[in-house]
Amino acid sequence: MLQLSNIHKTFYPNTPDEREALVDINQSLKPGDFVSIIGSNGAGKSTLLNTLAGTIIPDEGDVWVDGKNVTTFPEQKRASMIGRVFQDPMSGTAPRMTIEENMMISLGRTKKRSLFKGINKQVKQDFQSHLARLEIGLENRLNTKVGLLSGGERQALSLLMATFTEPKILLLDEHTAALDPSKEELILKLTRDLVEQHQLTTVMVTHQMEQAIDFGNKLWMMDEGKIIFEAEGEGKSELTVADLLQNFQNLRGKNMASDKALLV
Ligand SMILES: Nc1ncnc2c1ncn2[C@@H]1O[C@H](COP(=O)(O)OP(=O)(O)O)[C@@H](O)[C@H]1O
Ligand SMILES: [Mg+2]
Repeated sequence: MLQLSNIHKTFYPNTPDEREALVDINQSLKPGDFVSIIGSNGAGKSTLLNTLAGTIIPDEGDVWVDGKNVTTFPEQKRASMIGRVFQDPMSGTAPRMTIEENMMISLGRTKKRSLFKGINKQVKQDFQSHLARLEIGLENRLNTKVGLLSGGERQALSLLMATFTEPKILLLDEHTAALDPSKEELILKLTRDLVEQHQLTTVMVTHQMEQAIDFGNKLWMMDEGKIIFEAEGEGKSELTVADLLQNFQNLRGKNMASDKALLV
């Protein structure tokens, strides 16, 4: 479903600010794989997701999605293949548009223009049944402007919009980090449900190691642009937070947590 070969990305090359954000990334995911990514601040996690989404084109290497080489495809050209949720609940939806209009935009990204007939009764019912699955009452608020929703509600809607069109790959970039704990719980539960429902191949960056252990069949640990440790299947489910911290310390000779504290 996803293949990354020899991916390199350097920001500001040949200047004093040169930063190797991705160094020789080689990975692949099968349909339905779910990888959780952890790592220090500035490790390259978001840059990796950006190269999958097409917001960043790598300097070297290839990105394949579902058998198609999309390396040079700009973001819009891969939008139908990729669903994405960001950390900021405000960034995934358009505040001055209604829930219905926002969902229509997601749908429009994935359907050929010629097939795109606008909002009819069937589409409306379809939106409502998707919204009902969130179990937070949004199915009764199709005409509410999204700017009036709470952060948790907006993030739930972003997650729905990123998944109900059944993309090839779902990208989650610390999508619960800005929420308070009860809302974080809700969004994590919805993540699990929606990924399961649509059998989505998922790449999730998280700042919480427990989450990385709990979610997905694979785990990648990143530092300084590299994937320094990976685990999958049983090897992954047996991991503890202490193991992850120890692994990081052993491999890098520094502490992941203090590294983060220094940079925050
Ligand atoms: N658009 C950009 N322009 C310049 N430098 C960037 C850009 N995006 C990321 N970087 C740099 O690349 C490195 C990796 O960043 P990022 O992928 O955001 O890390 P993470 O998400 O793991 O915290 C950092 O040093 C960051 O400053
Ligand atoms: Mg990031």
